[in-house]
Amino acid sequence: MRSISLFLAGLMASIAFAAPAPGIFNNAYKRSNRMEEYYSRVSKHIHDSKRTGSASSTCDTSSISLPAYASSLPSPSGQTLAYVTVGVGTQNYTCANSSASATPEAIGALAGLFNATCIAADYPEIIDLLPNIVYDMDVSANATSLSMLPPANLLLLGYQYFSDLTTPVFDLDTEDQNDGIAYTKKNDTLDAPSDAIQGAYGAVQWLYLTTTNETVGKYSSIYRVMTAGGDAPTTCEGMPDSFTVPYAANYYIYET
Ligand SMILES: *[C@@H]1O[C@H](CO)[C@@H](O)[C@H](O)[C@H]1NC(C)=O
Ligand SMILES: *[C@@H]1O[C@H](CO)[C@@H](O)[C@H](O)[C@H]1NC(C)=O
Ligand SMILES: *[C@@H]1O[C@H](CO)[C@@H](O)[C@H](O)[C@H]1NC(C)=O
Ligand SMILES: *[C@@H]1O[C@H](CO)[C@@H](O)[C@H](O)[C@H]1NC(C)=O
Ligand SMILES: *[C@@H]1O[C@H](CO)[C@@H](O)[C@H](O)[C@H]1NC(C)=O
Ligand SMILES: *[C@@H]1O[C@H](CO)[C@@H](O)[C@H](O)[C@H]1NC(C)=O
Repeated sequence: MRSISLFLAGLMASIAFAAPAPGIFNNAYKRSNRMEEYYSRVSKHIHDSKRTGSASSTCDTSSISLPAYASSLPSPSGQTLAYVTVGVGTQNYTCANSSASATPEAIGALAGLFNATCIAADYPEIIDLLPNIVYDMDVSANATSLSMLPPANLLLLGYQYFSDLTTPVFDLDTEDQNDGIAYTKKNDTLDAPSDAIQGAYGAVQWLYLTTTNETVGKYSSIYRVMTAGGDAPTTCEGMPDSFTVPYAANYYIYET
């Protein structure tokens, strides 16, 4: 229950911050349309729950479902949702040379994963907006050093990186809790919808990842959805030997 009240405290604090604030909020306020939509939905939600007196923060994970657009990926039926996290960080690429005949190669990624489970359960109209908001905050390079992610003060749940070129790892063993490690393989992909935030080179694909037998814990599959940015340019023309592209996404982590 502690994190629910923290989350609510965060929401209230972020509403109180509805004027330009220093530091981390600056970049977000520069691109204020998405932030305005976010705050307007948050405000409406709080207004509605005050008006009806409903206890809206029950964090019932059984009410959570993937975004409708993900229905082209295999269904999670038979699995149980463990967490919804918003991930923010970089996708990393290399280029053999800087000519148009070379194509960027994906060599991994590094992201912080923040616990958005109760937002997905209690604020379904907000969860899909989070990656866009977080993307706009320009924290990708520092995401793994944040213990809490504004604007809703989400707590760090773990890290996403690669153990080799084809193995995305979701490491949920942090200083505070040991929640296991999911080693995964790509099972299916889906191009991001056309209204996704493109960033410099486009939004990375949505993914269905299934866990391998190295996994510690009951994790069975992970969906990467609502991607913002992260894709590479189509050729290496003018690109350095290695580069990173900021991205954000929601990850739905299922277990058996
Ligand atoms: C994630 O957040 C949910 C809801 O606040 C909470 O029940 C759960 O314990 C959190 N998980 C971790 C590992 O912090
Ligand atoms: C750049 O790399 C591509 C792919 O490896 C190669 O086909 C091409 O010949 C290289 N061009 C130059 C100028 O080195
Ligand atoms: C990816 O880039 C980040 C910097 O954002 C770096 O810390 C990380 O080590 C890189 N990972 C790989 C596999 O290149
Ligand atoms: C991000 O981290 C780098 C290296 O640790 C630091 O120099 C930079 O000031 C940080 N940026 C922000 C916005 O915190
Ligand atoms: C992909 O996922 C489906 C459905 O979860 C599963 O039946 C299949 O074995 C998986 N394939 C691979 C290659 O992991
Ligand atoms: C895990 O899978 C790999 C490759 O499929 C196999 O070689 C290995 O024996 C398996 N390990 C365990 C502990 O099942």
